[in-house]
Amino acid sequence: MDAIECIVTRSSVRKFRPDAVPTEEIREIVRAAQWTPSYKNSQPWQVLVISGSRKDELTAMLLDLMDKRAEATPDLPPPREWPEPQDSLIRDLMDKRSALAGIDLNAPESVLRSKKANFRFYGAPCGLFITHNASLGSWSILDAGMFVQSLMLAAHARGLATVPQAFLTDYAAQVKEFFGLSATTRILLGLSLGYAADAPEAMPPRPERVPLEDVLRFFG
Ligand SMILES: Cc1cc2nc3c(=O)[nH]c(=O)nc-3n(C[C@H](O)[C@H](O)[C@H](O)COP(=O)(O)O)c2cc1C
Repeated sequence: MDAIECIVTRSSVRKFRPDAVPTEEIREIVRAAQWTPSYKNSQPWQVLVISGSRKDELTAMLLDLMDKRAEATPDLPPPREWPEPQDSLIRDLMDKRSALAGIDLNAPESVLRSKKANFRFYGAPCGLFITHNASLGSWSILDAGMFVQSLMLAAHARGLATVPQAFLTDYAAQVKEFFGLSATTRILLGLSLGYAADAPEAMPPRPERVPLEDVLRFFG
């Protein structure tokens, strides 16, 4: 698969086979992602990988926090409002997904169910957390975002599936305590990693992209 095909065919997978991912495979993917460019080659990213019974413990902790209605305190505050056209794009995605699922995915009980599935890593054998030093600024968050895309593309190229998950950062303080990380660490994003399940729900229709003309302008 060439680079363009890899970018275009990667998609978020939300149903995984339980099969373990060999450690060497994960090392290979992260080694490739390390070639991501970064501001002054600062390489502001760390990857935590969790699997097996430790992952189950983490899932149990996150579900418990949710059941107790613990306040979510992600290190990167979620946007309260979206400007246009993003607001419409998000509504459109949720409407289409709701129609497909036959339920209103914006309803509070659907949001809870979706959070639970996120906290269970959608059945994936591995959970990943991307972190960096909390004193780093916006450029480093941009670098880390590119790193995550490299990691997802490397995984895809090797037949592995991923989904990036902001939900996994909801209880950042507790997740840091779980991993024994200091408060000076910022949790940027969580991901699930594994092999896509052989089920239609694993690959729902890919969210569309806006027309090229909406994002690309040439001058001169
Ligand atoms: C920063 C970020 C956070 C995301 N958070 C979640 C999440 O919490 N749960 C989830 O199921 N998908 C999450 N996604 C996946 C997006 O919904 C998905 O990338 C988008 O709908 C486009 O679909 P595609 O990845 O299949 O191209 C997130 C994606 C990104 C980049």
